[in-house]
Amino acid sequence: MPFFEHVPLAPPDPILGLTAAYFADPRENKVNLGVGYYKDEMLRTPIMQCVKQAERVLLESEPNKEYLPIDGHKTFIEKVAEMVFGQAFWKKELSRIAGFQTIGGTGALKIGGTFCKEEVDRPIFIPVPTWPNHRGVFTGCHLRIDSYPYYDLKTHKLAWDLFLDFLEKREEGSIIVLHASCHNPTGRDPSMEQWKTLAEVMRRKKLIPFFDCAYQGFGEGLEEDAQAVRLFAESGLEMFVAFSAAKNFSLYGERVGALFILAQTATTAEHITSRVKQMIRTNYSNPPRHGVAVVAHILSDASLHAQWKKELHHMRERINRMRKELAERLIQQSKTHDFQHLKSGLGMFCFTGLDEGQVERLRLEYGIHMPRDGRINVCGLNQNNIEYVVDSLLRVT
Ligand code: LMR
Repeated sequence: MPFFEHVPLAPPDPILGLTAAYFADPRENKVNLGVGYYKDEMLRTPIMQCVKQAERVLLESEPNKEYLPIDGHKTFIEKVAEMVFGQAFWKKELSRIAGFQTIGGTGALKIGGTFCKEEVDRPIFIPVPTWPNHRGVFTGCHLRIDSYPYYDLKTHKLAWDLFLDFLEKREEGSIIVLHASCHNPTGRDPSMEQWKTLAEVMRRKKLIPFFDCAYQGFGEGLEEDAQAVRLFAESGLEMFVAFSAAKNFSLYGERVGALFILAQTATTAEHITSRVKQMIRTNYSNPPRHGVAVVAHILSDASLHAQWKKELHHMRERINRMRKELAERLIQQSKTHDFQHLKSGLGMFCFTGLDEGQVERLRLEYGIHMPRDGRINVCGLNQNNIEYVVDSLLRVT
């Protein structure tokens, strides 16, 4: 008697599942605006020069391939904590930051979510819209999950009043997922004034912020993109930060991430560390070595660090250039649609506002691939295809 016959067929992933459809598309002029990879003008995702350089050094100097500690590579965790929380806070409050190397940013969300379930067990709230995997990951942690209004599809602005009103009504200890910068998929972040208000409300209502920080350096700059996290940390909140080095180090497949849990005291941070280590040990034992060693080396070596910042700056410039060009062309050429909002977003994603039918037409009729929510990765654009994409977008709107 077969035991596995009842297993249902799961749908493809709404983002990673796109790649297969793109590769299966035989058209020569097809365009991939799907998965959030940084791509250069040739539409390649190159290994950064600083990464190559660090790998050369590691090849010669790495002493062994022994297990890392359960919580991960110490230098990597410290350097990333410094980068995320800022040097001043990090120096002063290091003992309150429980830090862990994780398997990418998603691994950080998962470990953080598991910790929430086991130690806090309060409801968790994700923005609408958000990265689709947020719901999947936190559901997998068996948390009570619901959403909050974040973005107004009609005005293409934050649904600010609804958002605030929602927070005011939350019970103490509710966990609120926030995108640290470059909101995925809308590209629309709160202003600094709005972040200040959010921090004040969350403190007063005793809510727990859970930052997803996957795009530091892709918006306005390394320091600017960390301002919200730093503001919240300085305002005395207990909080989570899930960090990913996939995009800003172009280390996607190396799965380099970190989870930080900021506690009120050093003793609490110590207890948290012991519990999270237990969770990691019983889950995958200990994390992989290579990717984090690369990042730790870059962040510890003054000249490689400077080179990384330079390369990141070029990536950010290309992203901003393509966004601007797309927005300007659409604004100029569209007689029916207002695309002004595309100009002011941050990060690699543009939220077009296309509906599912229009997205489907773009794929079927024009070979242009993007997630169903109408999000565009502007890095999929270059001088060869931008006119075709603009033209096709105008045809379906
Ligand atoms: C994306 O949103 O495209 C990326 O974060 C890749 C992913 O894992 O979905």
